[in-house]
Amino acid sequence: MQTFTEIDSREIPGNIIQLMSRDWMLITAGTPEKFNTMTASWGALGHLWNKPVAFCFVRPQRYTFEFTEAQDYFTLCFFDEQYREALQICGTLSGRDVNKVEKAGLTPRILDSGNVAFEEARLIIECRKIYADVFSLDKFTADETPFRIYPDNDFHKMYIGEILHVWEK
Ligand SMILES: Cc1cc2nc3c(=O)[nH]c(=O)nc-3n(C[C@H](O)[C@H](O)[C@H](O)COP(=O)(O)O)c2cc1C
Repeated sequence: MQTFTEIDSREIPGNIIQLMSRDWMLITAGTPEKFNTMTASWGALGHLWNKPVAFCFVRPQRYTFEFTEAQDYFTLCFFDEQYREALQICGTLSGRDVNKVEKAGLTPRILDSGNVAFEEARLIIECRKIYADVFSLDKFTADETPFRIYPDNDFHKMYIGEILHVWEK
């Protein structure tokens, strides 16, 4: 099994927009005993309040939402292309109905903190939730987005996490 090496958040390799939009990621929250994970392709990494931060966006109907709401931490995991099918599975099935992790052939990796990531990841970002808010119709400053993305008014909740640790293989 390949081991992970901790790196500084300023050394995260690759283009962030490519990481999110093309590579995709798993957002995972919960405890070793009970956690959930889902695929996401909307997100950001950056610098805010003098901290390295990660943004992710979870719709309220996702099972993962129950975990991102209840927990103080979440992890973001990025994978090589060979795991595309696993990410498809985690992005189409719900943890409410099936054991997605087993179905996707992924192996949970319990971090020292007790937070959950995956052995197969090539990059793990561990975050502490520091801000969360739901998008709202009256705050959009251009008209097209809410009508195109949220015809059912199921606005994402945005989570900003302080990046605590980053590991890569
Ligand atoms: C490529 C891809 C990207 C996705 N991005 C997001 C996202 O950023 N936010 C979100 O709420 N759902 C996103 N989804 C949908 C969830 O991954 C999907 O609904 C998943 O089945 C939820 O699982 P859960 O019910 O176990 O939480 C994405 C799905 C795919 C395939």
